[in-house]
Amino acid sequence: MNIVVLGSGGREHAICAALAKSPSCEKLYCLPGNGGTAAIAENVAGLDICDGTAVAGFARDHDIDLVVIGPEAPLVAGVADVVRASGVAVFGPDAQGAQLEGSKTYSKQFMERCGIPTARYASFDSAEPALAYAREIGAPLVVKADGLAAGKGVVVADDIEMAEEAIVKCFDGAFGEAGSQVVVEECLTGPECSLLAFVSGGKAHLMATAQDHKRAYEGDTGPNTGGMGVYSPVPIVTDGEYEAMAQAMNAAAAATAQDPFDVDYRGVLYGGFMLTPDGPKVLEFNARFGDPETQVILPRLEGDLAQIMLAVAEGRPQDVELSWSKQWAACVVLASEGYPGSYEKGKVILGIDEAEALEGVTVYHAGTAFNDDEELITAGGRVLNVVALGETFEEARERAYEAVDLINFEGKQFRGDIGSRAARGRSAWE
Ligand code: AMP
Ligand code: GLY
Repeated sequence: MNIVVLGSGGREHAICAALAKSPSCEKLYCLPGNGGTAAIAENVAGLDICDGTAVAGFARDHDIDLVVIGPEAPLVAGVADVVRASGVAVFGPDAQGAQLEGSKTYSKQFMERCGIPTARYASFDSAEPALAYAREIGAPLVVKADGLAAGKGVVVADDIEMAEEAIVKCFDGAFGEAGSQVVVEECLTGPECSLLAFVSGGKAHLMATAQDHKRAYEGDTGPNTGGMGVYSPVPIVTDGEYEAMAQAMNAAAAATAQDPFDVDYRGVLYGGFMLTPDGPKVLEFNARFGDPETQVILPRLEGDLAQIMLAVAEGRPQDVELSWSKQWAACVVLASEGYPGSYEKGKVILGIDEAEALEGVTVYHAGTAFNDDEELITAGGRVLNVVALGETFEEARERAYEAVDLINFEGKQFRGDIGSRAARGRSAWE
């Protein structure tokens, strides 16, 4: 099978690494890829991955059997629809299915319709009624731009002034089209936990739980980022909570194949949950693998990812068989100094081979490239994902930090407390 993966982050490196291990994967391309994917796939630059016709053309010219879409933007842009219509199997939902991530209003309506627990909300297309509703329910509350805003469109407002400012900012065009509708919702409390599933033909095949660390600095302080570290599975989840999350994911998968939604959903559905005192509630759905969640989930997958993805893409959910290693996985993100604000690029990276020589350690690249001297250099805010497997949660975390110490580049920034809250137990959230 010839496969092409669209995207350039740590998620795509982890997907490519798992596909490269598959006996059925003959030729692997990554568009555009990064410094890490270059070692296992052929990187191809200069093609707009949000242009479905261009991607379909690439697939035709390179005899591609399966197109795997990593990020949300091409899904929302309808790349899966165009490529599938050209006769090539695609791993990724159609544009309508991707609205579960692309429109928070659509996603909330979907949840309401299938009885999936979520925060109380209202959706608005102008500022005045949104402001009136916010004043009525009072702080704390959450303001969300409806569309894709690269994780920056959500404000958890502790006081009403902050909520008012967020509403006005959205309607003033801070997020362009994405902010022309605004969701205002009740603020939930508790630990967050993600549960991902392969979804095809209305059936969900659940993956493991994972917990991201979105804030930039230790102790969950500082600005939100794309994710500074993650681990899997999540030890603080009770059996009852897991069951409730599984039920929500199964209900969502079933609804994708039924009226009135009836979308062509063949890919990953990502459920972002908050474990509230009233049980797990969905904060958001994403229409793709999480980044960095994928980097701790796929290394624990024991099956053949290429065959799993092909079965999902061809609408054969009965052929998806998943088995997971019993090991724990922890991932520490190494970022450029200044991230998520402005940062410098081009710093030479050393020590990856030494880190990967440690037992159970893999380093996935996120923002890396090669300079003219063929040296590996930093090329983004999040640079590397240092992942370690271990027999226990503690062992996975210790190994990841041992590996982190061996890697160096100027301005290396990371959190030293990935997983330490969960290691203290549920009371650490109270
Ligand atoms: P979202 O993109 O909707 O997942 O929101 C991004 C982040 O905002 C989540 O990971 C939570 O940390 C936070 N958040 C979103 N919705 C709520 C809510 N209703 N209550 C509390 N925090 C929330
Ligand atoms: N880690 C959160 C996301 O991928 O959206």
